[in-house]
Amino acid sequence: MSTETPRTLTEHAVEERLHELLGQERFPPPPGFAAQAEITDPELRARAAADPVAYWEEQAGKLRWSTPWETALNDSEAPFYRWFEGGRINVSDNCLDRHVEAGNGERVAFHWHGEEGEQRDVTYAELLDQTARFAGALRDLGVQEGDVVGIYLPMIPEVAVAMLACTRIGAVHNVVFGGFSAGSVAERMEVSGAKVLVTADGSRRKGKTAPVKPEVDRTMGGLQGLEKIVVVRHAGLDDVPMTEGRDVFFDEVVAAADPVDPVPLDAEAPMFILYSSGSTAKPKGIQHTTGGYLTGVTTTLRQVFDLKPEEDVFWCSADVGWVTGHSYIVYGPLANGITSVMYEGAPDYPHKGIWWELIERRGVTKFYTAPTAIRAAMKWGVEHVSGRDLTSLKLLGSVGEPINPKAWLWYWHVVGGERCPVVDTWWQTETGAMVVTTLPGLDDAKPGSAGTPLPGYEVQVLDAETGEPVSEGEGLLAIPRPWPSMLRTLYQDPDRYRSTYWERFGESTYFVGDSARIDKDGYIWVIGRVDDVINVSGHRLSTAEVESAIVAHPHVAEAAVVAQADDLTGQAIVAYVTLQGETKSSDEVGDEINAGIADRIGKLARPKRIVWTQDLPKTRSGKIMRRLLRDIAEERDLGDVTTLADPSVVENLQERWKAGA
Ligand code: PRX
Repeated sequence: MSTETPRTLTEHAVEERLHELLGQERFPPPPGFAAQAEITDPELRARAAADPVAYWEEQAGKLRWSTPWETALNDSEAPFYRWFEGGRINVSDNCLDRHVEAGNGERVAFHWHGEEGEQRDVTYAELLDQTARFAGALRDLGVQEGDVVGIYLPMIPEVAVAMLACTRIGAVHNVVFGGFSAGSVAERMEVSGAKVLVTADGSRRKGKTAPVKPEVDRTMGGLQGLEKIVVVRHAGLDDVPMTEGRDVFFDEVVAAADPVDPVPLDAEAPMFILYSSGSTAKPKGIQHTTGGYLTGVTTTLRQVFDLKPEEDVFWCSADVGWVTGHSYIVYGPLANGITSVMYEGAPDYPHKGIWWELIERRGVTKFYTAPTAIRAAMKWGVEHVSGRDLTSLKLLGSVGEPINPKAWLWYWHVVGGERCPVVDTWWQTETGAMVVTTLPGLDDAKPGSAGTPLPGYEVQVLDAETGEPVSEGEGLLAIPRPWPSMLRTLYQDPDRYRSTYWERFGESTYFVGDSARIDKDGYIWVIGRVDDVINVSGHRLSTAEVESAIVAHPHVAEAAVVAQADDLTGQAIVAYVTLQGETKSSDEVGDEINAGIADRIGKLARPKRIVWTQDLPKTRSGKIMRRLLRDIAEERDLGDVTTLADPSVVENLQERWKAGA
């Protein structure tokens, strides 16, 4: 690590510097970075575009296959594409066994940091041993190839063990974000027909410990198919309720089990389901398969983060419960054999500089986070970064939502010391891996734009009316060619898969659901979702799901949920609610609505503001005009309201909004 004196930063000096930088449109790769970067060949994209399937075959070939594939891409049943058909491969073998056999067993896979300052280093050899044993334990519990295993765990190494163990024996994992409520876990276990759930005694957040197992018991009791619950002892809770014959402790089953070898699986064997929000209240079970997914995440992480397995310490600050955690905490880093930091806690606990402290202590070289976290750090102030030695950092990444240029520049200047390229990576749960970004040793970055498609991908902005590609201007984002890590279907709902993604532009062009602008250089500027999905702090939530949790309250007659632009979280949830009966005060109902949402979905889905109203703006045919509700929340001019059944409704709403009611 460098011996330079850490910088002293002041708010004033940072403001001045950002002001200077704000006019700069392009940021070429910093010379120090470009000099050591792996990918510097400007022809790479063109070569991949000339024969994308051959390009992906070349990437897949860097993995260890037990049987080579026969057909790289089978599109005969489009849009149900199949990649690397006939090939057999095992994900945990590629993430663990391969590195241990190559003599890297002592390399640290995860530097784990707990909320209360605990530390645990887990080497590749240890991770392999735990994974092989837990895979054996799962088998002992009756899990077979193709069975679904739910995982509802905090950010602890056991979450990676549980996921990898599933891939070892061909079980399909269904991880639910720890911030979701036990009620939403129950729903996801039920719809996916999970046989086993792996969870914890409790979880810790900012100095408080919350019991998890009793909550799981409360909501999971009636689930028919759920045969076993495995409990990781993590929060040190006594008296964990355990049901005889159903519940077992993780450490006990691991100790009792024999390790099992990785099972060679069909490249198209389902690997995991991850539920994500869509336009309706019913979450979509996005399904990924084995060979293509692993190819996508391994390749993109290596290229975009310019990985050097011997040197890098990577840290992706996401949660494993989201796709970013699947792809870039677990599978991408491990398949590339690098060392990562895994952090259990919140970014402001025990203090607001904890992330920078951990980067300094662990000598993190590549850091990957979300714009909302950067904006929070900006708000907390540079004093939390000042004095930290962050010179180990070489590259910074952003994901999850558009990054506003000011946050980009702050990241670049304050965190990266103007030495580190910033890669803004656009992708989705559905894409499995990064799609649009800049190659850090090759491409100029433009703050606010994700960049251009990675090699092997084609991305277009299509005119919303004609469906024709726009060479410069705004339209709908689309991917006109299959790629290996694409979702294969929606779990047990192929019709919804087809109608959601392949109806708008046909069977060979994937409809993304984002609007975007493309500039004269082909750079893509993502604007946001075009469906009823709200992106709060990079967390994808469905308006319909929140609405149905609100109307479940007995005093609520009707509710409409919209997104409002928010300086900190990107978007915030605003709920317009009409009440029926007047037995309670709206404050009381508001508290109960919030509690109901926390219980059904999770605290993260609670609205920032509830506006009480006698009526909602509706067309004469009774359709709620959400556009107007968004305009009211963002205090815009409402334009033409003559199509409303009762135009006075919006006037009242505008007044209530301004009065803060
Ligand atoms: O709207 C885009 C936004 O997040 C959506 C995907 O959400 P999810 O499936 O939860 O995956 C998030 C992590 C990959 C996209 O449709 N999004 C994601 N990354 C970016 C982004 N918007 C702008 N810029 C990004 N870099």
